[in-house]
Formats: sequence, C-alpha cells, structure tokens
Amino acid sequence: MSFSIPAHLESELNELVTRYPQKRSASLMFLHALQEHFGYLSSGAIEWTASKLGLAPINVYELVTFYPWFRQQAAGKVCIRVCRTLSCALAGSYEVRDAFCKAAGIDPKGPMHGHTPPVSPDGKFSVEFVECLASCGSAPVALINDDLVEDITPEGTAAILTQYK
Ligand code: FES
Repeated sequence: MSFSIPAHLESELNELVTRYPQKRSASLMFLHALQEHFGYLSSGAIEWTASKLGLAPINVYELVTFYPWFRQQAAGKVCIRVCRTLSCALAGSYEVRDAFCKAAGIDPKGPMHGHTPPVSPDGKFSVEFVECLASCGSAPVALINDDLVEDITPEGTAAILTQYK
C-alpha cells in the first residue's frame, strides 16, 4: 500500500483517536477528514484507516460503501447535491437535477447518487442526489459545496452555476 498523508493531518487524527473509548469509534471521523483532504477515499486511504484503527479493511469498506456521502472517486471541484426526498421531489427536484446536469455539461442519464457522482468534462462540477437536507419548507433545495441553495427552479440553475465559475 503506497499511501501517505501530511504529518499535520496524521497528528490530528492520532489525537482524535484518544477522544474515543475504542479506536474503531473514530472510523467515521477519519473518513471525513481524509475525504475532506484528498477529495475522495482511495483504496490506500481505506486500508491506511483500517491499519491505524486496528480493523480489517472490509470493516472500513463497509462504511464507505454504505454512506453515500463517502466517495471512491473524485467529484467535481463544485459539488452539487440535490435533495430528492419527498418535499423536494414533489416540488420538482428531479427536473432541477436534470437542469443542473445540462447546465454543467453532464449526461443526465448517468448515475444519480452515491459513491461515483457524474463529473462534467472539465472536472468543474459534479451533480448527485442526496436525501433530506432539512430545509423542506423551501423545496427544492441543493447543497452546493457548503452553501444551501433554496427554492431552485430548473430555469434558474444555469445562473446559479455562474456564481461558482
Ligand atoms: S425534502 Fe428536501 S430538504 Fe427535506
């Protein structure tokens, strides 16, 4: 396994482990930190996590493949997560998702959510579905990087993307 992380990140993670009663309890926090740093979770990152926490790699793969938030491939620099749960679906989030894909140059027939979100040819955008973003009253909504964008219309998606170019 050839995988290495910056010393400062490794020391942060070493310190993090000490806050939990068992090493394995820090698994999700490790994965969040590694995805935040590298953009996705490579097999090297997964195996490194397992080794640091005294787990078998399958224990970590199970987490990565269970939670759609975790990715095994790089997403776009601008990550668009459209809510598809009931309120947003009824308010048109499927049309919004397709419109974001079209505005970003992504084939809307590609995968809709999960661990390998479709990425635009220039690598700038990825679009995927997620579940409820806890803003049902202003549906449909999307999380664009760390920004919650509300009351989105299909017609408004291209203008939203220009703010991230
Ligand atoms: S259903 Fe979309 S934010 Fe709750």
